[in-house]
Amino acid sequence: MAIKDHIELIVPRYHNAIEDWQNKNFPDINLLKKYWHKHFPDEEYQLCARTNTIKNELIIQGKHAGHKKFTRAREMKGSMLYQALRIIKAQCSTELGSIQQHADTVDSSVSDYAKFSVLRIMAEELRHAYQMFWVLSHDPTWASTGDKKISNNIMEELLSMGTGSHVLDAFNIEFTDSLDNITFAALIDRVGKFQLSMQEEFAYSPMSASMKPMLREEAFHLKTGWTVLKEICEQAALGEGKWTLDDVQRKINVWYPRALEMFGSEEGGESNIQFCFKTSTNKEAIEGYINEVEWLMSSFNTAIHKARDPSLSKEALRKLSQEDRVLTLPSAKFLRIRSGELIQDSTYDLDGKKIKLEKYIDYLKTVLPEKFMGTKFFTDYASRFNQIKAA
Ligand SMILES: [Fe+2]
Ligand SMILES: [Fe+2]
Repeated sequence: MAIKDHIELIVPRYHNAIEDWQNKNFPDINLLKKYWHKHFPDEEYQLCARTNTIKNELIIQGKHAGHKKFTRAREMKGSMLYQALRIIKAQCSTELGSIQQHADTVDSSVSDYAKFSVLRIMAEELRHAYQMFWVLSHDPTWASTGDKKISNNIMEELLSMGTGSHVLDAFNIEFTDSLDNITFAALIDRVGKFQLSMQEEFAYSPMSASMKPMLREEAFHLKTGWTVLKEICEQAALGEGKWTLDDVQRKINVWYPRALEMFGSEEGGESNIQFCFKTSTNKEAIEGYINEVEWLMSSFNTAIHKARDPSLSKEALRKLSQEDRVLTLPSAKFLRIRSGELIQDSTYDLDGKKIKLEKYIDYLKTVLPEKFMGTKFFTDYASRFNQIKAA
């Protein structure tokens, strides 16, 4: 039988601060609470920290392999402690950032079910942020860095972030319609699942013990992204619904490159293995992610062909979906924005072919959503090209 989560609240100062943040950024929580049981009769929601059993009591790899997982931050020495803080901060920033993004367009969701599913995702992301606040606030030994307020300062900083100032680019892009909510759940939350799964072995046990409940909730986010996007594809295949298949492809072109970047540089991740914060290098995790997203695309393509011709046999459908891939993943080189890389070195098309700098923005207009080109994120990006041309 599944072991129940252990539930805790954080100190009132931060509990109240998160509730204030919620009132400001996510007032629809009240609507969600009112109708929660109508849509999700088997689940409960509470803003709290949840921990559960960990896979291994011992650190499974790296420098401290065989040692008992650390229960106190002070047991992590030097750069290990700072790196743990960076991961926790980045994790929490993704949770808060996604709520701010979802909030802008959730009201125009395709159906009541889609809307309440996105609201539930937002509520659960808030619980994940709360969880990270618990990790930072229940253990006074974070102060062993010599900076007594280090974790408090991080929490204050997190609460002040908005779309544009979050740690990772994927959380700095404004949503422009509710197809973003769903494509994001399908592609970006899936990265979240990868990170959380790797962190199940996190060497600091309050973090590893947080992962099981978070992963359980994340499964709902992935399911929402998959099922609702599949329905949108089926409707589009028949010329119905709000969006065309080209609209869907253009959204994939926006979010997939950002998803890949969330894993960090392809060459990196070795120190996370050494400290046992994650169980795969960035490259291994990226490969696993791409495999899953390719499966996702093929399930959409099958659904599209089936919607167009329901009489097809299973075998004919499988063959057709492989031969005629309506939706495709961009090359991993497309629209990558890597820190430290010159922008003129990053101008690749969807197939991974290099495009001349002067032509890149015009090319992007043909493969990205029109409304995306008007976001601050994109205009900032495009202005970097103009600066180079002017220089
Ligand atoms: Fe989350
Ligand atoms: Fe999520």
